[in-house]
Amino acid sequence: MNIAIIGAGYVGLTSAAVFAKLGHKVWVLDTAQEKIRLLKHGKVHFYEPQLPELIRGAVKKKQLVPTESYAVALKSADVIFVCVGTPPLETGESDLSQVFHAAEQIAKYLKKDCVVVMKSTVPVGTTEKIKEIIKKKTAVSFDVASSPEFLREGSAVSNTLYPDRIVIGVESNHTAKILTAKILLKLHEKLLGERVITDLRTAEIIKYASNAFLATKISFINEIANLCDSVGANVDDVALGMGLDPRIGKAFLKAGIGYGGSCFPKDTKALHRVAISNAYNFKLLKAVIEVNQTQRRLFLGKVRRELGTLEKKNIGVLGLAFKNNTDDVRESAAMDIIQWLINEGANVKAYDPKAMQNAKKIIHKLKICKKPEEVALKADALLILTEWEEFKNLPWPLIKKKMRDAIIFDGRNLINPQSIRKYGFKYMSIGRP
Ligand SMILES: NC(=O)c1ccc[n+]([C@@H]2O[C@H](COP(=O)([O-])OP(=O)(O)OC[C@H]3O[C@@H](n4cnc5c(N)ncnc54)[C@H](O)[C@@H]3O)[C@@H](O)[C@H]2O)c1
Repeated sequence: MNIAIIGAGYVGLTSAAVFAKLGHKVWVLDTAQEKIRLLKHGKVHFYEPQLPELIRGAVKKKQLVPTESYAVALKSADVIFVCVGTPPLETGESDLSQVFHAAEQIAKYLKKDCVVVMKSTVPVGTTEKIKEIIKKKTAVSFDVASSPEFLREGSAVSNTLYPDRIVIGVESNHTAKILTAKILLKLHEKLLGERVITDLRTAEIIKYASNAFLATKISFINEIANLCDSVGANVDDVALGMGLDPRIGKAFLKAGIGYGGSCFPKDTKALHRVAISNAYNFKLLKAVIEVNQTQRRLFLGKVRRELGTLEKKNIGVLGLAFKNNTDDVRESAAMDIIQWLINEGANVKAYDPKAMQNAKKIIHKLKICKKPEEVALKADALLILTEWEEFKNLPWPLIKKKMRDAIIFDGRNLINPQSIRKYGFKYMSIGRP
């Protein structure tokens, strides 16, 4: 099929690359000129494993065409995926301006009988609103659908190639429903995963409910970890003992400084706003959000208790990205903690394998280092804030020698406490004695 993807970010580009790999002809559009310029040279403006290779190959074969022009992208598109950003507003609601702007442009150029699919995470009712916006500006017949995205940054390509499920929400009108669902089922036919065919509003809420539930698991295990700290128990073993129950599952039971990134914080807050605007008191979700915000503060409290004042203290930080295998620092717990340390007068040096440039754009005072061991120079403490694999095996004796005080605070429970203590470090983590 001919597909247009609007928005060349994590979601849009990964979908574009995978649809092209499956043999569809894909146009990918972004309003940011620089991103399209890079794409035309087969380059990607962010770090995501496996993606550049796929993009390079598809662009070279002309299976994937990057463009800034809606006219070019939509000329022959049977299906249009809207993958633009939906960042949070101050109130916690989603800022839908990118989505509405895309809808206005789509209305000008869409081809007869095409399907406009909302892939961005949007509050309930948005896909219907998009239909209204487009309908007001065109006489051409078209349909809308909602197909939320579940990829995870750092493994986006394999998540998209091997999805757990493909959710397709269509309008409840019977004839349209069958036709649109058929088109979208055909489009995804080479991909595995269960199909969930439902109505628009249900599809929209499936995405929020999934992220809110995962966030709940994280906040839950973090509260258990805090309790473990008080009673001298080990949260890693608690999580293992719980997770072996298939009704619970092992995933997302890793205690730490809380969730971050461009999705969980924004989506939990947006769902909470949806509840408020529908006069529903979603008490559990409110607590999940609060626990997550407190978790990074509690970690800073541990550092402060150990070091006394933070004024003029040298702090080495390992990890800036919100998780491993990405350069994304949006809503990263590491970024908050570093900003608070700097506000309290500490000198912070940091290393991250991929996210240093992005972090520096936000925290100008941050000193970045080329190697992980460099952050240890004259450091009063070392903080591990992102779970990069490479931080598990660092030259610890060398690091200890460079530090003023050999103290490690592990905000991701990444290191084995027994083995690191053998090197003579004072080591503290989350919920482990
Ligand atoms: N990043 C993830 O892990 C992830 C996972 C699942 C769902 N989502 C959701 O998918 C959506 C996109 O997320 P993302 O991380 O890919 O965002 P992103 O910020 O990486 O990409 C969005 C892109 O849209 C472009 N854009 C903005 N307005 C535009 C317009 N009017 N026309 C064309 N392009 C425009 C931007 O330049 C940007 O490149 C969001 O709603 C997000 O919540 C993200």
